[in-house]
Amino acid sequence: MKGAEKEVMADIPDFKKEQGRAIAADLGRLIEEASNTLKYMAGEGCSGFDCSQETLKIIDGWGKNRPFVSCDDLEEIQRDLGDCRRCKLCVERTNIVFGTGNPAAKLVFVGEGPGYDEDQKGEPFVGKAGQLLTKIIEAMNLAREKVYICNIIKCRPPGNRNPAPDEIKACFPFLERQLDAIRPAFICALGTFAAQTLLDADEPISKMRGRLYDYRGMKVMPTFHPAYLLRNPEKKRDVWEDMKKLISLIDV
Ligand code: URA
Repeated sequence: MKGAEKEVMADIPDFKKEQGRAIAADLGRLIEEASNTLKYMAGEGCSGFDCSQETLKIIDGWGKNRPFVSCDDLEEIQRDLGDCRRCKLCVERTNIVFGTGNPAAKLVFVGEGPGYDEDQKGEPFVGKAGQLLTKIIEAMNLAREKVYICNIIKCRPPGNRNPAPDEIKACFPFLERQLDAIRPAFICALGTFAAQTLLDADEPISKMRGRLYDYRGMKVMPTFHPAYLLRNPEKKRDVWEDMKKLISLIDV
């Protein structure tokens, strides 16, 4: 939330914000139900409405492009997250890694999940991969404080394993709220996991990288994860191409 808008929102009592969120959630569910019903009817060969591929494609997109309704700011989201016990990752984590940076950022970097260093510090991307990300950001003539950095999940999976579907399901709504609160023009999805989760896709990162996608009105640029670059330094060139594309589009 920005400037004057933030001042206005400060006067709205919490229960009103809660109502706003409930309405947005209801609307999302209604859209999904309507979309599922129409797709089911089309599957059954129902006549009387347009079952063309073109129309079905539009119906498919409904849930993904649901209207933007946000009554949040980041502090409020973090307060709601609290000492989160919504999934089993709470058992072994040291710190929740909420996200850091500029709440009015035009560019948000989304990684996979905290590793050992991040879990210890409670900050995203502070280990070896994080140091490389910082270098990439600085090479873009930006600074960590100017962008926002977060992850798909906020607690470290033991042994740095991949996050499980139930863990993502529990955590993703908080990332959605963060992105709705910041409303960046661009999101850089770091690695397969972030790109596939944000875009609800199953293509490998090597296919997705370098192209812009839409996530509820925000543009997403998938690229290789910095940890992957540490193992495959020859891919740095590709990432730099992707970042140059972003720089040319972002008005900072
Ligand atoms: N890798 C990630 O995906 N996120 C972090 O915060 C650190 C490493």
